[in-house]
Formats: sequence, structure tokens, C-alpha cells
Amino acid sequence: MSSHSNSPVAELAGRVDAVGGGRGAISLRNVSQSYGSGDAAVTAVGPVDLDIPPGEFLVLVGASGCGKSTLLRLIAGFEPATQGDVEVSGGQPVPGITSGVVFQQPRLFPWKTVGGNIDLALKYARVPKGERARRRDELLTRVGLDDTADRRIWEISGGQQQRVAIARALAGQTSLLLLDEPFAALDALTRERLQEDLRTVSSDLGRTNVFVTHSADEAAFLGSRIVVLTSRPGRVALDIPSTLPRVGVGADDLRGSPEYAALRAEIGAAVKEAAAA
Ligand SMILES: Nc1ncnc2c1ncn2[C@@H]1O[C@H](COP(=O)(O)OP(=O)(O)OP(=O)(O)O)[C@@H](O)[C@H]1O
Ligand SMILES: [Mg+2]
Repeated sequence: MSSHSNSPVAELAGRVDAVGGGRGAISLRNVSQSYGSGDAAVTAVGPVDLDIPPGEFLVLVGASGCGKSTLLRLIAGFEPATQGDVEVSGGQPVPGITSGVVFQQPRLFPWKTVGGNIDLALKYARVPKGERARRRDELLTRVGLDDTADRRIWEISGGQQQRVAIARALAGQTSLLLLDEPFAALDALTRERLQEDLRTVSSDLGRTNVFVTHSADEAAFLGSRIVVLTSRPGRVALDIPSTLPRVGVGADDLRGSPEYAALRAEIGAAVKEAAAA
């Protein structure tokens, strides 16, 4: 063990490592979440049963307010489910340990620089100090933010902040990545580029991903499996595997293919139908 083995960061990094190595399976059994009590009680989502094996890129699609973020919060372990069992990597989900999360808003550390935010994630991921600057620059390049490492968070735009949040999540070593509409605020070109990166990176790393979106386009492009939720309380309306290839085909070819068009149309129709039900 290193001399840092007693520090909280080392201990946390050890636990992060412990859930790595191809784990990241998710099991939801009869899961529901309600808010409020008595007459004012609202069921946000459920009951939902889902088994997500390691390495899956699952996209959750549904209309606004159907419970997508709620379901993601349960998988992250931010709140316990009102009913049912949520398991990640064979145990209870622990925030920051069993998964990395990218939220609808960036939620960066405003007192740190852009590079400082990434450095911290690399430190938690146990990347040796001597390699962090290189990894940090690689990650910032990947999200299109070269030469911003020394900028303050308030000196960059909202879209750029969201890219920092994505780079930070990619820096982590957790076997599960949870993404809640991470590209919604970005311009179309950046959004497409990041979709391509995320698709490739996730295949390379063998991570499990759960990605929330409203967009049938995004779902068809990213998902190895697509789950459409009904309107509130969200339940599974459609659960289909994608037959689109994940490697060996360019993004433009994929987006131009009749198979992609068919999948996108199927998802779009299911979302409409589920929202009207
Ligand atoms: N903490 C909370 N307290 C009370 N109600 C809540 C809470 N969180 C969510 N809800 C309600 O649960 C429902 C589902 O919310 P959720 O944020 O999960 O939807 P969503 O599918 O992510 O929507 P969007 O696409 O707009 O982000 C909504 O009706 C919402 O108002
Ligand atoms: Mg949401």
C-alpha cells in the first residue's frame, strides 16, 4: 500500500476500483418512487422491472415528467426507492462509488479551474500524479475544450461547462455511467460530436451506460438497447435491443442507414403512443 492509503481519497478510490473490472450490472425489481403523502402523494415512476447486464448502453426515453430523472437518481443511490429493490454491481447503489453521473446541469466545483475539476476526478480515479496533466488534456480535447484548463468555471459558457462535466465523468473509472440529458443544452454540431465520442468510448471501455433523453434520434444513435417509458408514473412501454453495429461503421454512414431510420421511427412512434396512453 502507498503512504496515502489512509487518506479519504485513497480509501474512496479503492472502493471505486473495487466495483470496476466489468461490473456495472443493474437490477430493478418492482421499483416505484412516490413523493408526498396522503391525498397529495404523487407516484413519479413505477412499478419498473429491469435487468441491465454489464456493458449495455441503455437509453431511457420518455416525455417530460414521466420519471426518467427519478429512475436515474434511484440507480445512482441519491434516494432510496419507496418500493422495490435497486441493485448495482450486486449491492446497494452508493453515490459517487457505484456510478459516475452527468446531470442535466453541469454541477462543477466553481472555485476550481476547468483543469482542476478534471484533475480531481483523475485523482479519485487513482490516475498517478505524473499522468494526470496528459490525461486531463486528452479529455479536454475529446470534448472540444483545448486550451481551457486554466480558465475559471464562470469564464466559460453553459455549453462548455456541460462538456467539462462530461470530461469529468469520462475521467472516472466507475463501471457504470449515468447520464441525464447531458447534451440537451449544446449546439447541434457539438452534440453530434459528443454522441459519437460517447458511443465509441463506451464500447472501448466496456462500461455500462444509462442515458436519459427525449430525443428518438439520440436514442437510436446511442443505444444498444432502448427503453421507452409511459407518461407518469413511468413504466416500461417498449424495451428493444438495437441491431445497429457498434464498431466498424462511421457515424455518418450509421446516421444515413435505413436501419437507423427505421429504429428512430419505431422509437418516435412508441414515445408518442406512450405519452398519449
Ligand atoms: N423531489 C420531488 N418531490 C416531488 N415531486 C417530484 C420530485 N422529483 C420529481 N417529482 C415529480 O415526479 C415526476 C417525474 O419527475 P422527473 O424529474 O423524474 O421527470 P423526467 O422524466 O426526468 O422529466 P424531464 O424530461 O422534464 O426532465 C414529475 O411529476 C415531478 O414533478
Ligand atoms: Mg429529467
